[in-house]
Order: sequence, then C-alpha cells, then structure tokens
Amino acid sequence: MIHVQDLKVDFGSHSLFGGLSFHVKAGEKVAVKGESGSGKSTLLHTLLGFIPQFEGHIEIDGLALNPSNIHEIRRRTSWVPQDLRFTVFPTVREMFYAPFRFKNNRHLMPRPEEMERIFHAFEISEDLLDRQIKEISGGQKQRLILAAAVLLRKPVLLLDEPTSALNVEIKNKITDYLLGLEGITLMAATHDEYFISKADRIINL
Ligand SMILES: Nc1ncnc2c1ncn2[C@@H]1O[C@H](COP(=O)(O)OP(=O)(O)OP(=O)(O)O)[C@@H](O)[C@H]1O
Ligand SMILES: [Mg+2]
Repeated sequence: MIHVQDLKVDFGSHSLFGGLSFHVKAGEKVAVKGESGSGKSTLLHTLLGFIPQFEGHIEIDGLALNPSNIHEIRRRTSWVPQDLRFTVFPTVREMFYAPFRFKNNRHLMPRPEEMERIFHAFEISEDLLDRQIKEISGGQKQRLILAAAVLLRKPVLLLDEPTSALNVEIKNKITDYLLGLEGITLMAATHDEYFISKADRIINL
C-alpha cells in the first residue's frame, strides 16, 4: 500500500533519511518514531507531496508519487497535521466541516449516526461545534479534528502526533480506536509509548 525505496530528503545543509526503505501493507498500523528533528513530520509531508525534491521512489496505493498522480493520491488520503493552530476558521463547526466541503469530499459528509458514534467514542460533545475555536481546549480540538479525519473514511490515514494533547486515559482509548480501524492503512508520527507498543509495526528514524 505504501512503498518507499531509498528515500532521501535534502534541506540545503542537512540531509534526512539516508536511503530509507519500507513497505506498509494495506490495513497495517505503523508508528513512526524518532527524536525531535529526526524527520517524522517530513516523512509524512513527503508522502503527501509537499516535498517534491525528495530522492528515491514512493508508491501509494499503486500510484507512483509524482506530479501527475499527486491529486489522486491526496484524494485517497487524509492527514492530520502536527500544528492545529488554524487561523482561517471562525467557529468550531467551520473547522470541523472544512474537509467535507472540498469538492472531492462533498459526497463524504458524515451521517448523524456516524457523528454520534465517533463523538461518543472520543468523549466529545456535539455542542462543541457551536463554540468559537478559542472556547475549546487543545485536547477537544485534537479529538474533533481526528474525528473528522476518521469520518472521511479514506483508505490512507496519515496522523502527525495524533494524541499529543490528550490525557492518558482518553489517549489510550483513542489510540485503541485508531489502531482498530479496519481496512484503513495508518501511519502516525508519535512519541507515545502506548501507541508505539500497540502498533503493528514501528519505523524508527
Ligand atoms: N521545509 C524545511 N526546510 C528546511 N528544513 C526543514 C524543513 N522541514 C523540516 N526541516 C528540518 O528537518 C528536520 C526534521 O524536521 P521534522 O519536523 O520532520 O522533525 P520531527 O521528527 O517531526 O520532529 P518533532 O518530533 O519535533 O515533531 C529538522 O531539523 C527541521 O529543522
Ligand atoms: Mg513533527
């Protein structure tokens, strides 16, 4: 499903990955670990086509990562960035529904019962949607954005530090939920020991 061969990324003075190769099978759940600055976010950004100068070969869902395929690859992928300080959305509702308003995703608008199920699992209330972004906590925001990413039901889920703002009980519960998503190939950059211990496989940068 995700095939990476001899990957190298150069940022002027320094180079990352030094010829990294790995293969992630369909449905596998992979933790990407490594010290701060080791390139976890950069690896996800490369898979998303944000780092076009990479060296090596990348294939996602049978498509080589190149300018002609990137649109189709992104259509099959959902991504939660590490930095969730969005400034463009006035309300939580607009932030939550933003990915479903993209032209490619309009048909993926979640049904009320799907919303209810995941809000319950993530221990968040739908009332949060009526607030201003500054009126919710970092952990509530992280759970809302993860819920939206899951509800998109894309075959590939790329998560950058998905549980960094959560306390331990809810963090482990959400980790179990994410790792139990059937048929979805998941790669998460994480420092979290619980996530790392439960993942099918670890990529250590
Ligand atoms: N666009 C860029 N231009 C230049 N250098 C960059 C760029 N993006 C990342 N880097 C550098 O690449 C290295 C890896 O950064 P990256 O954000 O991928 O690390 P990380 O493993 O995700 O770290 P953290 O655990 O702190 O999130 C860092 O040294 C960073 O400064
Ligand atoms: Mg990072």
